[in-house]
Amino acid sequence: MDIHHHFDLSSRNTLALAARARHYVSVSDLDSARAALQFARDRRLPITVLGAGSNVVLAGDLPGLVIHMAIRGRRVVDERAGQLELEVGAGEDWHDTVEYCLQRGWYGLENLALIPGTVGAAPVQNIGAYGVELESRLQCLTALELATGRIRHFDRAACGFGYRDSVFKREERDRWLIASVRLSLRRVPAPVLDYPALRDALGDRPAGDISPEEVARAVMALRRERLPDPEQTPNAGSFFKNPVVTEARARALGVRHPGLVTFPAPGGGVKLAAAWLIERCGWKGVQQGGAGVHERQALVLVNRGGGADALLALAGAVRASVAERFGVELEVEPRILGGQWP
Ligand code: EPU
Repeated sequence: MDIHHHFDLSSRNTLALAARARHYVSVSDLDSARAALQFARDRRLPITVLGAGSNVVLAGDLPGLVIHMAIRGRRVVDERAGQLELEVGAGEDWHDTVEYCLQRGWYGLENLALIPGTVGAAPVQNIGAYGVELESRLQCLTALELATGRIRHFDRAACGFGYRDSVFKREERDRWLIASVRLSLRRVPAPVLDYPALRDALGDRPAGDISPEEVARAVMALRRERLPDPEQTPNAGSFFKNPVVTEARARALGVRHPGLVTFPAPGGGVKLAAAWLIERCGWKGVQQGGAGVHERQALVLVNRGGGADALLALAGAVRASVAERFGVELEVEPRILGGQWP
C-alpha cells in the first residue's frame, strides 16, 4: 500500500483549495480498499473518501486517512429484452461512463452528460440535471463498511434518495466506501425532454425524432455555455441547492416578486431557482476577497485565489441577503470538509 503523508490535495479538488491529508492512499481494488481501512482502524484514524473532489469544499487540512477511490471497470451483468444492467467501478469518471454507454447504444444517461465527478460519488448526492436524477437509473450499489470492511449491497430503496440527497449524506454518512454502482440502461431510446431549457435547445420537433445522442449534445452545449470548466475556473458546480417550498409559499413569493422562476419538485412542493434569487439580490458576477459568483450562472461560486475562507464568507453573505429579501434559507450543496460552515 502506497500511503502518502501530508499529501497536498489541491489537485484533487475542483475548487483547487489548498489543504493537506495527514495520510492519503489511492485504492484501485477491493483488497487495497480493505487494507486501507485496516490501516485506519489500527491507528484509529478518521476516514474521508474522495472521488474526483468535485463536490467538496476543503476548508482545512484533513486529520486522518483520505482514501482516493480509483476502482475501475465496467461490465454488463444482466441483459433482458431491451434492458441491461451495467456494473461500474466507483472510480470511473461519470462523463466517460455516459459516453461509453452512448457509444454502445445503451441509453438513459444522456441528460446527465458532462457532470464532473466519479461514478461512486454520483449516488451520494443523487446527481441530477436537465430533468433526470441518478435514482431513476441506479439499480443498486456495493459498499464496504468503513469500520469493518464488510460488504453491503444497497438497493435503490435503501439509498433513500431525494433531491441532491441520499442516506449517504444523512443517517449513513461517513460509514461506507462505495465500491461499485449498478446502472439500469435501455437499448430503446426514451428521451426525457421535460426540462424547459433542454426542450428549447432542441427546437420544436416531435420527441420521437430526437435521438439520445442529440440530447447529450444539447445538454453538453448548455452546460458549456453556462457552467465554468473547473480546469480553467475552479468551482464545485452549484454551491446551493434549489430550495423547495410549499405551493402556497411559492404563490405568495410570486405575487411579491414577479418573474420568480419555479419548477415542480418531484416529491411535492415547488422548487425555486436559487440562481434567480441570488441574481435578484445583485450577486451575479460579484467578486469579493478572492471568491466570486459566476457571471453566467449565479448558483456557482468560483475560487479566484482567496481559498476556502473567502468562498465561505461569500457564500454566507449571499445566503444572508437571499434570506433577508425573500425569507428563503439556502442550503449549501457541496460537502464542507476539514472545517465548519462559519
Ligand atoms: N437563472 C437565473 N440566473 C442565473 C442562472 C439561472 O435567474 O444566473 C434562472 C433561469 O431562469 C433558469 C433557472 O434559473 O431558467 C434555472 O437555471 P438552470 O437551468 O441553469 O438550473 P439551476 O436550477 O440553476 C440546476 C442544478 C444543476 C443542473 C441544472 C440543470 C441544482 C443545485 N443545480 O441548476 O446542477 O445542471 O439544474 O438541470 O439543483 C450541480 O448540482 O452542481 C449542477 C450544476
